[in-house]
Parts: sequence; C-alpha cells; structure tokens
Amino acid sequence: MQKIHAAITAVNGYVPEYVLTNHELETMVDTNDEWITTRTGIKERRILKGEGLATSDMAVPAVQGLLEKRGISAEEIDLIIFCTSTPDMVFPATANLLAHKIGAKKAWGFDLQAACSGFVFGLTTGAQFIESGKHQKVLVVGGDKMSSIVNYEDRTTCIIFGDGCGAALLEPNYEGYGVIDSICKSDGSGGQYLNLKAGGSLKPASYATIDAKEHYAYQEGQTVFKFAVTNMADVAAEVMERNSLSSEDIAWLVPHQANKRIIDATANRTGVSADKVMINIHRYGNTTNGTIPLCLWEWESKLKKGDNVILAAFGGGFTWGALYLKWAY
Ligand code: UT7
Repeated sequence: MQKIHAAITAVNGYVPEYVLTNHELETMVDTNDEWITTRTGIKERRILKGEGLATSDMAVPAVQGLLEKRGISAEEIDLIIFCTSTPDMVFPATANLLAHKIGAKKAWGFDLQAACSGFVFGLTTGAQFIESGKHQKVLVVGGDKMSSIVNYEDRTTCIIFGDGCGAALLEPNYEGYGVIDSICKSDGSGGQYLNLKAGGSLKPASYATIDAKEHYAYQEGQTVFKFAVTNMADVAAEVMERNSLSSEDIAWLVPHQANKRIIDATANRTGVSADKVMINIHRYGNTTNGTIPLCLWEWESKLKKGDNVILAAFGGGFTWGALYLKWAY
C-alpha cells in the first residue's frame, strides 16, 4: 500500500485590526524607528484590543475561514492541536475552548507548548496521527496574544512581539505530497534565557511576583540571538541535507519571524535566495506560534502543488526544528 503522507490541505490566518507602529512605541518607551528597523526588521505589529478577548478569539476566525475554504464543517475535525504560549487559561486547554467555540463536537485536542517552535512541533505531531491512519482531519493552530505577557515599559521586549494566529488542516495524501520529514530538538538549559517566571507551579501568582514584574516575558536578547542564529540555520540545512535537497530544489523557505537578521542567516546558510523566503516580520513582528502559519496564509496563492517547502523555527526552551513538506495543492 502507498505510504500515507500528512498533507496541508488548507491554511488561514487572522491578525487583529489594531496596528502598533514603531512611531507609537517611540511615545511609550525610549526607542526609535531606526533602532527597531535595523536591529529587528519590524515596522509594526498587531495588538488584540478589547475586554475579554483571548488567543482563542483570534483562532475562531482563522479556523472558520479555513473550514469555509476547504468546504468542510467543524464536526469533521478529529483532533485539534493548539500551539500557543499564551493559552486563554492555564487549564483547560485552549484547544478544548476553541473546539467548543467553533462547534468541533467530535474533536479531541490538546495544547502544545514549545514557544516559537510550536507550529513546527505541532505539524510534526499532527502528521503522526494522519500517517498512522488514526485520523483523517487534524487541525494544527498556532497563535499567541503576546500583548498579554509583554511589559510595555520594557523596550527590550515590547518592540518585538505582536498578536496573531494561523491554522493549517492536515489530511491524508496517497500521492507523496505533504510532510516528508522533520527534525525537532530541545535543550532545557536554555530555559533561563527566555521565559515567563511566574504563574506556574514554581512561582504561583502573588503580590511579590506582580511587584517583580514576573508575569511578563523575560528575554536575554543577545544570548537567545546567538543560539537562534546558528541553531535555526543549522537545523534547516540538516533537514535539506538529509533529503538530498539543494537550494535550487527549494521553492520556499518559511522561517519563524523573530528577527530579520536571524531570517537572513538561515537563508544564507541554506543558500535559498531572498525571493524565495517568506518574510512578513515588518508588518506583524514576532507572533510566536503564529509566525509560520501566518506566512503560509499570506503566501498561499503563490504556493504551487509539488513545491518543496522548508519550515524552520527557534524558540524558548530552547526549542528548534525544521520540517520539509511537498505542497499538496
Ligand atoms: O522568537 C524566539 C526567540 N527570540 C529571538 O530569536 C530573539 C533574539 N534576540 C534578538 O532578536 C535581539 O537580541 C534583540 C532584537 C532582542 C536585541 O537586539 P541586539 O542587537 O541583541 O541588541 P542588544 O540587546 O545587544 O542591545 C544593544 C543596545 C543596548 O545599549 P548599550 O548597552 O549598547 O548602550 C541596549 O540597551 O541597544 C539598546 N536597546 C535599545 N535601544 C533602543 C535595547 N533595546 C532597545 C530599543 N531601542 N528598543
């Protein structure tokens, strides 16, 4: 029997309307457009405004649009993997809340926490359920309301992050299209450099954790940069080498959008030319789990059946990984 591959059969995304520009940030912290642009490549990012709105509220329109494109109902979904670092609540899983909101009554689901590598890890995980024959429709969602954990008085982090969410549907393919290979890695010794210190079982919320601003994302930027710039590039090159792919074979490189300089380093290391690299960091900043599906959504009309696509990511944990897929439609 022909091997079952897990193919992406639809993608969609959602970004909130509110645009937080570098110029507005200049009025909030001691920074400037020139610094942000040259150090990160970011010009603006989206922010989810409004009381009572959470990460799942960005996933709802993203997934509903995806289902409409694919022409299927939410009840056909078997499994939802929600990749996020900003779940609506610590528990229950945002995947469950999303299933309820969209009416995915037959789906089970769970959240996947791998910081910025979440979507690569999520696709890798979801693909297993398709390849094994267990499921027919697996929804992989990647999104974050980063503004809920960003300190807008800290210029070293508030200029980077934005809110957004994307989703991809995985279905079986018998013609060799879909996820071909992936490499996922992690190293917990990096946890100290990028984290959210309080609110977990280690440091439950208290007046002291609030006073110490420990409910905000913490990052030692330079250290994270050094690990990200080499590991993301290396793992992308590794998955290409393992599958005997040269830069000419690659139609699209889809890097996590953390910093334009890290994206450029990954493109250089893999030899993929700039015109084949999906980049939207200038408009959305780093949406953590959202960056890669938002790129796929925005480039969907340019992707062609059979295109060799490499996804690559690096994030808190540390986590990093790359995935090779043949675009299926
Ligand atoms: O997505 C998951 C993984 N995360 C990443 O991959 C992020 C990796 N890190 C980075 O992208 C970069 O390290 C940052 C964008 C966070 C920072 O860029 P950098 O080139 O590493 O800057 P730096 O931290 O070395 O700071 C350089 C200078 C410092 O001033 P002094 O000490 O040289 O006087 C900072 O205080 O820039 C200063 N600075 C700023 N200046 C204006 C830091 N933030 C700002 C700011 N505006 N927003």
